[in-house]
Amino acid sequence: MTHYPPIELSGAAVLVTGGAQGIGKAVATRLAARGAKVAIGDLDADLARTTAAAIGGTGHALDVRDPESFAAFVVEAEAAHGPVDVLVNNAGVMPNGAFLDLSDATNRMIMEVNVFGVIHGMRLVLPGMVARGRGHVCNIASLAGKMPLKGLAVYNASKFAVVGLTAATRLEYAATGVSIGAVLPSAVDTALSSGIDFSPLPKVSPDKIAEAVEASISRRTGEIAVPRYVGALTGVMNATPEPALNVVRRLVRDDRALHAEDADRAAYQARLAAEEQDAHSEQPERLL
Ligand SMILES: NC(=O)c1ccc[n+]([C@@H]2O[C@H](COP(=O)([O-])OP(=O)(O)OC[C@H]3O[C@@H](n4cnc5c(N)ncnc54)[C@H](O)[C@@H]3O)[C@@H](O)[C@H]2O)c1
Repeated sequence: MTHYPPIELSGAAVLVTGGAQGIGKAVATRLAARGAKVAIGDLDADLARTTAAAIGGTGHALDVRDPESFAAFVVEAEAAHGPVDVLVNNAGVMPNGAFLDLSDATNRMIMEVNVFGVIHGMRLVLPGMVARGRGHVCNIASLAGKMPLKGLAVYNASKFAVVGLTAATRLEYAATGVSIGAVLPSAVDTALSSGIDFSPLPKVSPDKIAEAVEASISRRTGEIAVPRYVGALTGVMNATPEPALNVVRRLVRDDRALHAEDADRAAYQARLAAEEQDAHSEQPERLL
């Protein structure tokens, strides 16, 4: 087992992307309560400042798709709180629908936010962490990074990517004292999953994910599934022959993310449509 220099949360400089609401807000709130100096970066800069003010942290404008915006966030956060001890790459989007119905622009946004956003953040903070010989990056992936779901194909692809990215970089940096780990939530009660019935998978509270992020920092675990038994279930599913698995999938009506539509879902999709229009996503060369 690799030994990582411990990170004392009290006084630690912690950056949380997408921390204005949802899981990121719960993470920021929990870590601030443990004494961490928290910087929240979010596309919704006003909400980031409001959320941060309530927990004694700082709020910043951030678009994780844009490496320059991410670099500015790190500079501002370090000016306020000192060198980064922990980066929580949490910002993410989850448009749903049949694979052929999602536009190229939507698919690019998913990959830019969920994958490149994480890569940008890691490339920015790892050099300093490696130089100091300590630090932790916690990537909020998903159990959708292990379990394929109809209606979420490109989201699945993005989260499988984050799981692989985390595992490979964890190996690569293990000897430097810097750890990289992932938290893999099942469904969580936030805007992102609104209007989609994932049952029999449980929908947990954002606080449960915040608890796992704290454990990721203190134990430096490679992967933490929330709840744990759903993580174990993905292993069983991967070992089950496809015909048997398909019977179970039909029984639990596993196609509900294909058709999810209600007022909350519509409001979430409208938020994503605005994000998709954003100038940064109109520069596809950044992806390539
Ligand atoms: N909610 C779930 O069921 C669930 C399950 C598994 C994993 N996750 C993951 O958890 C993370 C957080 O999701 P959530 O449920 O809290 O979502 P959310 O929509 O409630 O909050 C996401 C936050 O990220 C911000 N954001 C979006 N794009 C951004 C960008 N380009 N730059 C900066 N900030 C941006 C949004 O403004 C928002 O404040 C995501 O990575 C998501 O994939 C969520």
